Amino acid sequence: MEQRLQKLIAAAGIASRRHAEELIAAGRVTVNGEVVKELGSKADPDKDHIKVNGKLINPQLQSREKVHVLLNKPKGYLSSVSDPEGRPLVTELLPPSLGKLHPVGRLDFNTEGLLLLTNDGDFTNFVTAARNRVEKVYEVKVKGVPTEGGIQRLRRGVTLEDGTRTAPAKIKKLNETQTNAWYEVSLHQGRNQQVRRMFELIGHSVLKLRRVRIGFLTDEKMKPGSWRFLSPGEVARLMKKR
Ligand code: URA
Repeated sequence: MEQRLQKLIAAAGIASRRHAEELIAAGRVTVNGEVVKELGSKADPDKDHIKVNGKLINPQLQSREKVHVLLNKPKGYLSSVSDPEGRPLVTELLPPSLGKLHPVGRLDFNTEGLLLLTNDGDFTNFVTAARNRVEKVYEVKVKGVPTEGGIQRLRRGVTLEDGTRTAPAKIKKLNETQTNAWYEVSLHQGRNQQVRRMFELIGHSVLKLRRVRIGFLTDEKMKPGSWRFLSPGEVARLMKKR
């Protein structure tokens, strides 16, 4: 897979991304023997020979260990590796010894539940591609009690306020009181804030949202804030063509 040179140099542990940009601009980086000075140039470490100061960096890239983690995200954390507003980040819930990981997809700041993180760009690209997406299951608490007709609309698919259409969804009622209702919602799609926007459309705001399953991965016994490594078998299963 082609990636920006500064990212590859940083991933090989040779320099920070910023310093890598300086090395490129200074003409100290070659791809297949040609000096590359343009920032933003890309190379594929599986095919191209990338040298920094005359030294091949491909071996460092190959030996870098791939890490895949399942986190039970608490509310109040941002699914991102940085935030200009300085809010708490999901990456801060993991030990620094795991190295730099990025979230695979996203959960809203105030959504809890299962989130994958990795340093494996191929894994992220595969798992987030529309054709490979596994079912994701959410538990939702809403304000008020929606009518059965409203829920049927959501099951069939609705047009969101931005004009996009949601695919059919499985929705099961779990509980209801006079003031609230709880549902289990299963989706293959992952539009931004999809569950919140679906219920908003039928006039019921989401008060609590938790992702309890990603494909075959469930949150059994995982406390909010806790994490575990995926096994090689789990990684292989998630990367299986569907
Ligand atoms: N749907 C939402 O509305 N928010 C999430 O975080 C995930 C799915």
